[in-house]
Amino acid sequence: MSTNLIATAHVPLANWIELVYLLAAIGFILALKGLSSPKQARNGNLLGAVAAIVAVGITFAYPAAYKQVLHYHGINLLLMVVAMVIGTAIAVPVARKVKMTAMPQLVAIFNGVGGGAAALISILVFILETSNGDKPATYRIVEGLLGVLIGCVSFSGSAIAFAKLQELMTGRPITYPGQQIINALVAVAIVALAVATSITGSQVLLGVTALLSLVLGIIFVLPIGGADVPVLISLLNSFTGLAVAASGFTLNNNLLIIAGTLVGASGILLTQMMSKAMGRSLANVLFSAFGSVVTATGGADGSGETRQVKSGSAEDIGVLLAYARKVVIIPGYGLAVAQAQHTARELADLLMERGVEVFYAIHPVAGRMPGHMNVLLAEANVPYDELKEMDEANPEMTTADVALVVGANDTVNPAAKNSPGSPIFGMPIINADDAAAVIFLKRSMRPGFAGIDNELLFNEKTTLLFGDAKDTLGKLVAAVQEA
Ligand code: TAP
Repeated sequence: MSTNLIATAHVPLANWIELVYLLAAIGFILALKGLSSPKQARNGNLLGAVAAIVAVGITFAYPAAYKQVLHYHGINLLLMVVAMVIGTAIAVPVARKVKMTAMPQLVAIFNGVGGGAAALISILVFILETSNGDKPATYRIVEGLLGVLIGCVSFSGSAIAFAKLQELMTGRPITYPGQQIINALVAVAIVALAVATSITGSQVLLGVTALLSLVLGIIFVLPIGGADVPVLISLLNSFTGLAVAASGFTLNNNLLIIAGTLVGASGILLTQMMSKAMGRSLANVLFSAFGSVVTATGGADGSGETRQVKSGSAEDIGVLLAYARKVVIIPGYGLAVAQAQHTARELADLLMERGVEVFYAIHPVAGRMPGHMNVLLAEANVPYDELKEMDEANPEMTTADVALVVGANDTVNPAAKNSPGSPIFGMPIINADDAAAVIFLKRSMRPGFAGIDNELLFNEKTTLLFGDAKDTLGKLVAAVQEA
């Protein structure tokens, strides 16, 4: 009788909660849709955040759902609230203050703790289910193993990616003889241990699997360096999603399964898109230690040969810009480093006031993370219709009088089209070389991320204006005002 009463009292609540979960899942999908366009990205982000808050909140209303698995007690509820308050107090100010150039490492660390949390949940449930000597059903063990294995790789891999990007260790690829063989052996050992764990239900074997997975995360990430790290983070993000989905199975929580799968799928798609936009396979990004060898000979860094380049004065370049019909601004990583987005907009506005047609040509991997340039320019309130993606911009380059390359290098390097031996051969580029004149704003002759020379710097229609991009753009603003 009393059991029936509890059942009738709880079933409607459970149904309501599942309904809220369903709405939250729809919110996540719409959020992802919004994030795919600059116009809707802010709303999409907000919708995703609201859906997550509602989902977490409603979960607190139904602790009985977890009672069977987590031996729910009031004290656990208190601990959860304390942990959430501490996490929020750390994360909110960090996320608010982070510079755009430091965004990849923030994503890395947030992603890492997500993977670690998923692994801890799976370990805890495994311990609870095996604590009185029972061996859980094999499918339960496999669910738990997936959460532990993928979550641990994601946690330790993200920690190393964070250390690399934060310059706590070298950002260059770390390689040693037999590296890939050692990595493969560790991966095989993990699979063997996982099989043994699912046969025996042994806590010790699960512990060793977790430890080796942490090791795999570290050694997998070591040979990946420089600007390839954001691609890696996107992949680790996808791993965290899968680990969360696995922990959703462990906890019988549908929303965790859906949210984890969405993160897993979108992360892997983004990883593929980033690799494609660099003209490289994912295997090349992960296993080739790209960026460990610098082949550039540009003279100013003292690395070898000095070839003649043409450098100009801000005044002359200002006149060229002021009397052009069409100017295409091509931003790159250097614009982000210099925080020159506002000055770039000032120059563009000034030129447009004079009747010059101006647009920004955005390469998909300009900068160090997806959408880097779009976000920076949006921060400076550049209207979206002044941004053109590479495919839309390239046909117009032949009609441009000036291509103004601001802190970009690899993304305009014609070697990607013309030099079959080049490491970036096959990468789609913005055809700055098709414009009547090319202006480069950079500080030196140093190469970009790929570490290779850019023939366009030596082209006779190219003029260089050396200096920090914010500085040189400021000088160009003054020069155009004078012209
Ligand atoms: P890069 O090729 O890295 O070139 C950036 C240029 O900016 C450098 O030549 C540098 O020259 C200049 N620079 C740096 N600081 C500057 C400052 N304060 N003022 C003026 N110039 C400055 O950048 P890119 O063209 O944007 O290409 C991006 C690269 O990252 C590609 O190789 C791409 O494959 C890689 N990558 C991107 C992503 C994503 S998703 N965006 C992901 C992975 C890899 P100086 O040092 O001489 O100033």
